[in-house]
Parts: sequence; structure tokens; C-alpha cells
Amino acid sequence: LPMMHVLDISWFTACMREGRPVAVETRHLIQDAFEVLAEFYEFNEVEGPCLAFRRAASVLKSLAWSVRRLGATEGLPCLGERSKSVMEEILQSGRSFEVEKILSDERYQTLKLFTSVFGVGPKTAEKWYRRGLRSFSDILAEPSIHLNRMQQSGFRHYGDISRAVSRAEARALGNIIDEAVRAITADGAAALTGGFRRGKEFGHDVDFIVTTPEVGREDRLLTDIIESLKQQGILLYCDYQASTFDQSKLPSHKFEAMDHFAKCFLILRLDCSRVDGGLNSVEGDSRGWRAVRVDLVSPPVDRYAFTLLGWTGSRQFERDLRRFARSERRMLLDNHALYDKTKDSDDSARPVRLISNAWGREARRSERDKG
Ligand code: CTP
Ligand code: MN
Ligand code: MN
Ligand code: MN
Repeated sequence: LPMMHVLDISWFTACMREGRPVAVETRHLIQDAFEVLAEFYEFNEVEGPCLAFRRAASVLKSLAWSVRRLGATEGLPCLGERSKSVMEEILQSGRSFEVEKILSDERYQTLKLFTSVFGVGPKTAEKWYRRGLRSFSDILAEPSIHLNRMQQSGFRHYGDISRAVSRAEARALGNIIDEAVRAITADGAAALTGGFRRGKEFGHDVDFIVTTPEVGREDRLLTDIIESLKQQGILLYCDYQASTFDQSKLPSHKFEAMDHFAKCFLILRLDCSRVDGGLNSVEGDSRGWRAVRVDLVSPPVDRYAFTLLGWTGSRQFERDLRRFARSERRMLLDNHALYDKTKDSDDSARPVRLISNAWGREARRSERDKG
């Protein structure tokens, strides 16, 4: 991320996460333990410890060395008392009593299973658990349960969409989206973002930003793409959310998990013949296709840079970057803008707009060069 240099945040370990040499198992044990604890608190809707364990896990993920002694982690940020005691226990005995208790807990196991379905969050999972349901067949056999459209697709394509998406599959989907965009507008472009843009080999979905140089056209661009996917017979599920973006309301002072741009959450049918080296699924290969989760977001082009930064992730990195902007630079960063609180809003909006425009141009140029 070139933005890293711009913001001078090389001090922060979470930025250096990807692409580092992977070190030793104990560290992964500890990392997994933290993630289980974070999830346990998420299921219980206790936000503080949940975020603390998430942050601790991501700090460990960033290390280029293996953890052998607790003392070695002394200078690391974000490791609190509880993280340290879990870490110590694992370093000494190779396991954590607390984590093992959670893993064998029926409620945790059930919520984990239920939330693995697309469209099922912790609240719905909890509701089903309270009603005594413990398995997918319990849910599907229960006549009083009404599944919404998203959950129905989640169950229908469960096998496929819980299987990782490979880089080759992401590339194939990139071609499909790119072709759709270009058939609609010759100067439009689709850029790969999310985990694959960070260099990951596998993902749970594939994320793209689609743009057109014509500000105001982006909403219709997205609905046109969806129509094209439908025409091609590869649209298995679509949740489209129209833009609620209002330039005059920038900057937004409250934290927003979601941006206001036009976006859609899709399940697409990916044919084997489009993927070099075949599909990442055994059944899929004999069937000739698999289902894949795809996200598209379509900001106005002058917001492209911020969207690209925001959607590249990881979620933890975005949280850290926003916190850094706020506390170290007195700036507000979200998927829409970077706003300097120390300056008059009119003044500060101008350079940001310039950078943003320049990046939008840059993106279009590099997309064209590729084409
Ligand atoms: N994102 C966002 N607004 C949304 C959805 C996603 O800003 N409405 C951002 C998330 O913060 C994340 C990035 O888009 O940083 C990608 O999200 P996601 O696909 O969930 O995660 P990935 O990092 O791509 O990981 P995975 O491989 O599991 O998909
Ligand atoms: Mn993703
Ligand atoms: Mn994810
Ligand atoms: Mn996504």
C-alpha cells in the first residue's frame, strides 16, 4: 500500500502483516486461541474483550519471529494481561484450559456452525440455539422457521461458498466482471480489492471496485452489471444496495462500518472452463461449476482512492489506520474521504480532492494499460 508511506505508519506492526515469512507453530496456536476467545466474546456480545483478542491475534500474525518465551513479547503493543496469561499457559503446556473449555462448549459449537451460513449472524444463531436447534437438519426441519432469501441461498450453496476461493478463480471472476463493465462502458474499469489485493492465495469471497470516469453514472453502472450477469445466467443471488452517499454530508464524524456507495453482495456461478487449472472443489469439477461469493462496490470516481484503501482491508488494518489518522494526525479517515480536522473544511477538502482525482486517473490509466 503506497498510502503507508504517505501516513508514515511504519511503526505499526499490523501494517506489515502480509507476505512475511511464516514462523513457528506455537505462535499459530496462540493466535488461534486468541481468535477463539474473540469469537466467544462476539457470540456473547461483549465488545471490549472481543476487539482486544482480535488485536492481540493480529499483532502475533505480524511477527516475523517465533514466540518461545513470554519475555520476548514484552515490547509488543496490544497484548493485555489476559492475552499474556493465555500465551504463558500455551507456552508452558501447549494448550489453554479456557480455550479448550470454549471449544467443547455446545453453545459455542452451535453458534459457530450456524454463523458459518451466509446470511446468519450471531443474533439469528442465538435465537435458533435458544429454541433448541443444534444442527442444519434441525433448522431445515423446523416448520416455524422462516429463512430469508439470503439464508436460503446460504443453505443452498453452503458446500461451495464455505470452500475457499483460489487466486485462479478470483482471476476468472475478474475477467467476467471486467468484460461486463466494458460491454456497458468502454472507459469503465474493475479493480480487484479485498484479501486478494493484499496478496492472499485464498479468500472467502472476491471483492471488486467498479468505476466509470463519469461522476454520477456509478449507480447505474452497478445495476447494469447485475443485469448483464443475470443475462449470462450466472447470477445465483443478488443483494443490491443503492447509493446513499451525499457529498455535502462529508466528513462523517461517527464511525461507520459500512460506506454509503452503491454495492452488491452476490453469489455467482463460475464455470470450470473459465478457470485455469480447474475449480477449487472436487464436486464442482464433476458438476462443471461452483458457486462463489462476490462483492462489488461502485463509488463515484473522485472517491475511488478512499474506497480502494477501505476495501483492501484487512478489517484490523483499517481499524488501526483510522485510529492512527484520528489520534496521531487529527484526521478523519473512512471509505469516503480523508479529512483534516486541524484545517478549515474548505481548505482541507481541496488537496484531498486533488489526490483522489489523481488516483482515480491513475487507476483508469493502469486498467487501460492492462487492457
Ligand atoms: N468492507 C467495507 N465495507 C463493506 C464490506 C467490506 O469497507 N460493506 C471492507 C472490509 O473492511 C474489508 C474489505 O472490505 O477490509 C474486504 O472485506 P472481506 O471480503 O470481508 O474480507 P477480506 O479481507 O477480503 O478477506 P476474505 O478473503 O475472507 O474475503
Ligand atoms: Mn474478501
Ligand atoms: Mn472475511
Ligand atoms: Mn467481501
